[in-house]
Amino acid sequence: MSEKTPKRDLNDLRSQRWFASDDMRGFAHRQRTQQMGMRREEFMGRPVIGIINTWSEMSPCHAHLRDRAEAVKRGVWQAGGYPVELPALSVGEVMVKPTTMLYRNFLAMECEELLRCHPIDGAVLMGGCDKSTPALLMGAISMDIPVIFCPAGPMSNGQWRGVKTGAGTHTKKYWDELRAGNITKDDWVDLESRMTRSAGTCNTIGTASTMTSIADAMGMTLQGASSIPATDSGHPRMASSCGVRIVEMVWEDLKPSKILTRDSFMNGLVAYMALGGSTNAAVHMIAMAKRAGVDLTLDDMSAMAAKVPVVTNVFPSGEYLMEDFYFAGGLTALLQKMSRHLALDCLTVNGRTLGDNIKDAPCWNDDVIRDEENPVVPLSKGKTLEVLRGNLAPNGAVMKSSAANPKFLKHIGPAIVFDDPATMNKTLDNPDLDITEDTVIILRNAGPVGAPGMPEWGNLPIPKKLLKQGVRDMVRISDARMSGTHYGTCVLHVAPEAAIGGPLALVKTGDLIALDVLAGTINMQVDEAELAARRTAWKSTAKLYDRSFAALYQRHVSQADQGCDFDFLSGTDPVPDPVIF
Ligand code: FES
Ligand code: MG
Repeated sequence: MSEKTPKRDLNDLRSQRWFASDDMRGFAHRQRTQQMGMRREEFMGRPVIGIINTWSEMSPCHAHLRDRAEAVKRGVWQAGGYPVELPALSVGEVMVKPTTMLYRNFLAMECEELLRCHPIDGAVLMGGCDKSTPALLMGAISMDIPVIFCPAGPMSNGQWRGVKTGAGTHTKKYWDELRAGNITKDDWVDLESRMTRSAGTCNTIGTASTMTSIADAMGMTLQGASSIPATDSGHPRMASSCGVRIVEMVWEDLKPSKILTRDSFMNGLVAYMALGGSTNAAVHMIAMAKRAGVDLTLDDMSAMAAKVPVVTNVFPSGEYLMEDFYFAGGLTALLQKMSRHLALDCLTVNGRTLGDNIKDAPCWNDDVIRDEENPVVPLSKGKTLEVLRGNLAPNGAVMKSSAANPKFLKHIGPAIVFDDPATMNKTLDNPDLDITEDTVIILRNAGPVGAPGMPEWGNLPIPKKLLKQGVRDMVRISDARMSGTHYGTCVLHVAPEAAIGGPLALVKTGDLIALDVLAGTINMQVDEAELAARRTAWKSTAKLYDRSFAALYQRHVSQADQGCDFDFLSGTDPVPDPVIF
């Protein structure tokens, strides 16, 4: 234990309800722990630290977390705690279908219940691949016992034939080049084995690095932990430090409710915008805020995006990778440069304020982490997040204008509308299709209820014949999400979604769609009488599940602008500790 004076007494720890009692149940808890080879002294009188580990062989981004849990345990033992590892759903972004988003709330529930039903006093949360970060934090916020988030860290830089390649971003880029006939099938196969060189999360500013950086800026990780590459020797050292620190936090009773305030969420937004982060973060931050009892809206985000330019020169908005960002000083250097936007008095898991943590942090490469006066994308040219409303999206839609072709930011074009991705893919590859780069491609029934799970289908494909003509961007609209590693003029998260009767359900092929990003509007130019007639004739075609997790999901999920959490999990109602009898 550190020299910090314990503020709590052993009898205050919830694990004592299991281990200290003199009855038959207490006997069984001690007996069964010794069954695992533990000596009494190794667990009695010590805080019990849960290590929620999302390692699995279906999650390459978390491949190292099995080893890394050992480093956490090392720290916990040193600090006088008793570490126990609890495996949890990995929600590995690439393998899980139809989308990990369907399971974000599943992992959030799992995290909350793992912490609740076991004798856990504090926890280290090990995750990083996209949804795992918000999910673990959502569960821990609801449970409200001391936790530290231990981010998986980004994978090493990728390179192919002398060109920096970023996970996700370049998969999409070279896929378009293959379809356009600019690279061969053999090139494509060669690329497959060279792009992703190590364990760790995507090395671009995708959803993973966006969310771990936000968690870091909100004070839920050790300062700067989110930028440490997965395979750097600094990573196990950080993991061990998490183990030491969580034991101290248990004695200090430093819980998420003492760290997560509206100000700390606003600090998260500063990082989000300065990074040019993923549109997905808009959904996750609202979900986390609702669990923390913090009022946070899409409008708070667009207001922050209008103040904080993209200064991080990393794909998809810039040209470097996460390892370069780390070498330039990482998130700590970025936050230092953004200090004037931050609430510096916010508390963080290390017990100090954000201001203390980032004070005088050096930046070693001003091209990777730019100054506000020299942004990667000036505010006049594009922002991390734009919120759009209009008769197509009354409750809001989002887009990332910093990763879009500026010429489409004010655009009117005829719609081509699809109800499912399979028909869309087939139709868009038809060489005789009547389509130009001015057409607006729309996919619906891809929202939280419709898909279900709001998959990352929103980077709708550019028709093959247009790719061959050199077209690389078009206006695309959906109620789906988009990978944070992708780019383009994609209007996403349209709310309410089509499957529950949102106006997106009423658009027809040929309708004129007007996008005006500067004005914050997205409208279909169809008159009210016609829309009313279409509304009367509309019938939902969404497939509703009768059993399985999808059935629970469809009945309880909220819309994108509300965070897509379950109605019975959102909010701050306390759930009591389990009865031990
Ligand atoms: Fe796991 Fe990108 S696929 S972080
Ligand atoms: Mg992703």
